[in-house]
Amino acid sequence: MIIEGKEYRTIWFENNVVKIIDQTKLPHQFIIKDLKTVNDAINAIKVMEVRGAPLIGATAAYGLVLAIIENNDQSFLKKSAENLISSRPTAINLKWAVDRMMNKLSGVNSEKIFEIALNEAKEICEEDIKFCLNIGLNGLKIIEEIYNKKKDTVNILTHCNAGWLATINWGTATSPIYHAHKKGIPVHVWADETRPRNQGANLTSYELNEEGIKNTIIADNTGGILMQRGEVDMCIVGTDRTLSNGDVCNKVGTYLKALAANDNNVPFYVALPSSTIDWSIKDHKDIPIEERNSHELSHVEGLDEKGNIKKIQIYPKKSKSKNLAFDVTPAKYVTGLITEKGVCEASEKGLKELFK
Ligand code: MRU
Repeated sequence: MIIEGKEYRTIWFENNVVKIIDQTKLPHQFIIKDLKTVNDAINAIKVMEVRGAPLIGATAAYGLVLAIIENNDQSFLKKSAENLISSRPTAINLKWAVDRMMNKLSGVNSEKIFEIALNEAKEICEEDIKFCLNIGLNGLKIIEEIYNKKKDTVNILTHCNAGWLATINWGTATSPIYHAHKKGIPVHVWADETRPRNQGANLTSYELNEEGIKNTIIADNTGGILMQRGEVDMCIVGTDRTLSNGDVCNKVGTYLKALAANDNNVPFYVALPSSTIDWSIKDHKDIPIEERNSHELSHVEGLDEKGNIKKIQIYPKKSKSKNLAFDVTPAKYVTGLITEKGVCEASEKGLKELFK
């Protein structure tokens, strides 16, 4: 995807170093950061220099490549894998990518291990790009259908950032939007701000601007009235973990948008690659919901009048706050799952038909 006219991916490997775009600095600064050790990769995931389910999976995969460069020892590799998995709990892609890497690397004691690891990490990225591209083509058909009926701009609401910054390229929720735009369909995106970290404002709006796609940032609670006024044609969101019964875990606030969409007959789609499906957990109450530092709520960061990045406290000093990062939208509120293999019903039957 394009930033300041130049084509980028979100992560790549160069001269034994993993390169990332530091997302904590966006949209005000575009900084490419080097990850040189597995601990750098773990830290980048924890502090959200990289974030978004597919991208943290890819970072973990490259983290294991860095571990091998540091110390080619099986017990170090195993410990690194465990530490990477526990760096963020909710997105299943993290464990999926580490398990996939370890299936190839466990017990390999030859010098070839580096090459095997690097190839697998690259393959995880290439596959994600292919899957996101196909999600885009499958989702495009839905946008096209709405456009053909409406013959006017299609207004799409999205939450958080399930854009190319959350994946390797294209994004999940944004991929159908990028494809529609490329095809000449007029689209406009309502980007939920997504408190407390503002991924919608800082990242989704930023990447849509760079791609020349019309968008408007809204406070998280605005979606309901826009839907009541008929100003939202569809919602598309991403997910960090979708259960085999179709329940969708995503950034906190997604559930409330799905309820509002349901009440207003607005189609509510979830876009995901198959690496985000958790086939093992049957009850959404068993999904580990990340609780992050309450400072993310009580403090905000932005540019001061001199153009310097500044953090300020906005809550009363004595107040407590609680920062749950994800919620679960029951399958009954999901119109369809847009995957790399096609669009299906959010149910065990729907998912199994696509992923036998
Ligand atoms: O906390 P984040 O920014 O990692 O949360 C990201 C999301 O909730 C995305 O919607 C999800 O990871 C899907 S990314 C294609």
